[in-house]
Amino acid sequence: MRFVDMIERKAEGLALSSEEIRFMVDGYVSGAIPDYQMSAMTMAIMLKGMSDVETAQLTMAMMESGDTVDLSDLPGIKVDKHSTGGVGDTTTLVVAPLVAACGGTVAKMSGRGLGHTGGTLDKIESVPGASVEIPLEEFKDIVRRNGVAVIGQTAKLVPADKKIYALRDVTATVRSIPLIASSIMSKKLASGADAIVLDVKVGSGAFMRTLPEAKKLASLMVSIGELTGRRVRALITDMNQPLGMAVGNALEVREAIQLLNGDIPEDDPLYRVCLLLGIHMLMLADLAESEEEAAAKLKAAIHDGSGLRHLKKMFELQHGDASYIDPQKINQLLKVNKLIEVPAETSGYVTAMNAEKIGTAAQLLGAGRATKEDQIDHAVGLVMKVRCGSYIKEGEPLCTMYVNDETRLAESIRMFREGIEISSFPKKVPPMVYEVITRENI
Ligand code: URA
Ligand code: CA
Repeated sequence: MRFVDMIERKAEGLALSSEEIRFMVDGYVSGAIPDYQMSAMTMAIMLKGMSDVETAQLTMAMMESGDTVDLSDLPGIKVDKHSTGGVGDTTTLVVAPLVAACGGTVAKMSGRGLGHTGGTLDKIESVPGASVEIPLEEFKDIVRRNGVAVIGQTAKLVPADKKIYALRDVTATVRSIPLIASSIMSKKLASGADAIVLDVKVGSGAFMRTLPEAKKLASLMVSIGELTGRRVRALITDMNQPLGMAVGNALEVREAIQLLNGDIPEDDPLYRVCLLLGIHMLMLADLAESEEEAAAKLKAAIHDGSGLRHLKKMFELQHGDASYIDPQKINQLLKVNKLIEVPAETSGYVTAMNAEKIGTAAQLLGAGRATKEDQIDHAVGLVMKVRCGSYIKEGEPLCTMYVNDETRLAESIRMFREGIEISSFPKKVPPMVYEVITRENI
């Protein structure tokens, strides 16, 4: 088998066999296939695509490139969620403890933020002492005691994805549906959950910019999951503006606490997406028979404080100072040198946002990384004062920036302003949730 022949066939739009796909993944992980050949292959895949069968085979070969986590000794149906990445997307810190409070088992492995998107691990680490590097047995023990724990992926989980993703990142081959589907699903399947609710983002701040692309990605991931015996559903939700109002690490932890404390109204977009994720997680875990029953359980876990108690306990068991998981005390983690309001330059309606630019503005303040080696300042970021559809008067604040290092402040403000469109006439506000993709409706 010569890899160059495989590249040539893929470049002509032909399908690879399952043996060839395995040869490619194993060869690239072992070093037998060099970066330059794999770059040509990922570009050919990006331009010519892969069939659903090829994508499923690629996912399996990637999953089997490293360790897989066995959660079978934990009680009940293990349920996970995954977002394809967004801005102000604080859903894990809300919905994982809520589902645990409703009797669910959530043993979750998350990622770090890169570029304009935030990562749950960085948010967790904004609480002093909190660890996301916990040995597997201790992780499972925390889940047994509290129903929920969130840690980083172990080094040996899907090494093929680590290597292929790093290559895609620098060869403009990230935005390919089969490559994204296999990257996400190989990691989800390897981390051991029985049931997975995917949150596929669509819009200016997401990998998928159009609804048909997002639907294709969502359906493909649901099919791959179901093929391997997992229960999988996907929501398609909007990422044309930040989901929550907070963009930053400790800022997003505060917003999660506020939501779990009942301080955020039910029509708020973050609330709505969290509730919907929770509904489908409870249903897949056989903890509710209808959407109405699931919603009632989740709302009860907000009202009686049990969701917030599970979040607090999770931080305590993950070695953090859980006293900060409190609507007042969390503010102590948000002490910065300066609070800067960014005023609107004209009066009008907020008709569009670019979530990528808003995420990048927060990253420039130090809330995110441009490269994997960058240090994060957990206290900085921004809090939105407007949403799409808001009316704003000239001089009123569009956001409040939490600032320590002012080196890139001017650039951040410029980037933020570019991310907000203000017009004299209102435009239709994009919906928050477009669709729910299940095995039945693919
Ligand atoms: N998230 C992933 O884990 N992989 C991708 O390819 C894109 C988003
Ligand atoms: Ca992420």
